[in-house]
Formats: sequence, structure tokens, C-alpha cells
Amino acid sequence: MEIRTVGIIGTGTMGLGIAQVCAQSGFNVIAVKATPGSWEKAKASLEGGLNKSVERGKMAAADRDALVGRITFTTDERAVADCDLIIESIIEDLQTKKDLFRRLEAICRPDTLLCTNTSTLSVTAMMAVCKHRSRVAGLHFFNPAPVMKLVEVIHAFETSEEVIETLDQFCKTISKGPVIVQDTTGFIVNRLLTPYMLNAIRMLERGTGTIESIDQAMKTGAAHPMGPFELADYIGLDVVEAMAHNIFEDVRHEHHAPPHTLTRLVQLGYLGRKTGKGFYDYAQKPPVQNPQLLRPVT
Ligand code: 3HC
Repeated sequence: MEIRTVGIIGTGTMGLGIAQVCAQSGFNVIAVKATPGSWEKAKASLEGGLNKSVERGKMAAADRDALVGRITFTTDERAVADCDLIIESIIEDLQTKKDLFRRLEAICRPDTLLCTNTSTLSVTAMMAVCKHRSRVAGLHFFNPAPVMKLVEVIHAFETSEEVIETLDQFCKTISKGPVIVQDTTGFIVNRLLTPYMLNAIRMLERGTGTIESIDQAMKTGAAHPMGPFELADYIGLDVVEAMAHNIFEDVRHEHHAPPHTLTRLVQLGYLGRKTGKGFYDYAQKPPVQNPQLLRPVT
């Protein structure tokens, strides 16, 4: 199985990051904007990040141009028809992903590898709607995709060994360090990281420490690059809540249920960095603890 052209469905943070990583390693990429609207904003966002790398002397302008030149942006899903590998990174909603997999099967060759970048949904459930199931798998990248080395290669129920081997090799070609994981909710990283962030929130609710002191403790005491609240804000609190919900649905243990403070912040639209406020208030430079969290959340 030779991979030359990669189709990316979804041009949010993860989709764009994965497109960048693939194009940087010389693959041709078709990037499909999955939600209504044009793709110009997505392309400008990718170019903005690359321009910063050029300005800081991390990338040559010619390499940036070559990278961008390898990515074709489109809103037409059918443009991925000739891709050898497709990685979807659309909304974390199982029904929406299943519908996409059904459409991709109708568009693509029977041997095109169909992968999901889902955080916590069942890859096997997406595979189940497909006729050619052995080519369905998960490729789970981490944010920011251009920086984080890990890709979890998810072995779903009927994924063939040959497909897993091809994906493992592909990840190495794009300079990532793949780990093969069986298809269980949250895989390895999110299954460990989600309860960790939920425990930090419960610790805050109990008054063990402040947002800043808990973050500081984990950064300087456990050498994490970000504390649990910084990380939750970085991932997006809606995403963290959805991951908690999916793991809770699977294991039905209250330890995995989203804590009250997280639910309230999501209800209020305070989703972390992307909305300017979450556990921290990013309007302040440097960011300060969200003042609304200084009293108990009801
Ligand atoms: N795109 C490309 N490069 C980026 C980037 C981005 N979005 N963000 C940072 N970088 C690069 C910078 O250019 C810099 O590169 P250089 O060393 O070559 O100059 C390098 O990363 C370090 O960046 P900064 O100096 O600006 O900032 P930090 O040193 O504070 O690092 C960080 C930023 C890499 C985000 C670091 O804080 C970190 O590793 N945080 C933890 C991230 C993490 O845990 N991610 C996983 C989340 S879970 C997940 O994604 C799963 C999903 O399913 C929810």
C-alpha cells in the first residue's frame, strides 16, 4: 500500500495541523473544509502560522511556499476520490462521522485507507457503517500537531494488520512516533489525561488549591509543560467535557463524570483559549485566573 496523496476532511486546528505535517513531509494534501463557508480563512490561518516560523528563522520562505503549494484547499468532498489515505478531523459527533464514512466509501476506491482523528469515539462504530472494513482505523494526532511527536494508531475490530503496518510506517515517514493502541474509549492518552484534568477540577472545587497553584505544582513538581487547567483551556473545555462524557458513558463510574464547574463553564460558552476565557481569562496579559471562579460555582 503506497501513500502519495492524503485527504484531510475538516480544516479546524487539528485538520490544519495534520495537513501541515503531511505536506511538510512531501505528501500531496487535499484539505476539505467540512462546514459551510469558504476555505480561504483556513488557508490564511495555516499561512499565518508558517509565516511566523519563517520570521523566527525556523523555516525557509521557499520551504513554506513549497509546503503550501502541496496543499489543495476545497469545499468539495469528492475531491478526495483519488487519495490513498483520508484522515477525518470533523466535529466529535458519532452520527456525523458515521455519515461521513458512508459518503467516503461511496467516493473512494475500496483500498483507500479511511482514518479518524477522533479523541474518544469508537473507531469500530465508524467502521461498522462501511462495507470494506479492514481499511478503517484511527490516526489520533495531538495538539499542536506540528509539535507533538505522538500519533496513536488505532486498531479497530476488523482493521487488517497490513493497514496497521502501513499507517505505522506512514507516521514514521511524517517524523512522528506512533504507538499502536486497541480501540478502547480514550485510547491511551485521553483515557489517562481526561481523569487527570477532571481530578484537578474537583481539587479546585474542594479548595485544595487555586487554579494557579495546582498548575504551578504540576509544572514544577511533575515537569509537565502545562498545568491541568492550562491544558484543559488549550484543548478546549467543550472537548474536555465531551471526552469525559464519552468515557463516562463507557465505564459508568462517577469518577469519570464531568465536574459541575466544567459543565457550567461550557454552558456559559467559556471554552478556554479559543473563546478568550475558561479557567483563565486570556484578555489579561499574562492570563489570570478567571475571577468568576474565585467563589464557588453554583
Ligand atoms: N503550531 C506549530 N508550532 C507550534 C505551535 C503550533 N500551534 N505552538 C507552538 N509551536 C512551536 C513553537 O514554534 C516552538 O518551536 P521552536 O521551539 O522550534 O521555536 C515550540 O513549539 C515551543 O513553543 P513556544 O515556545 O511558543 O511555547 P512553549 O514552549 O510554551 O510550548 C506547547 C507550547 C508546545 C504547546 C507546550 O506548552 C506543550 O507541549 N503543551 C502540552 C500540549 C499537550 O499536552 N498537548 C496534547 C493535548 S491532548 C490532545 O491533543 C488530544 C486531543 O484528542 C484532545
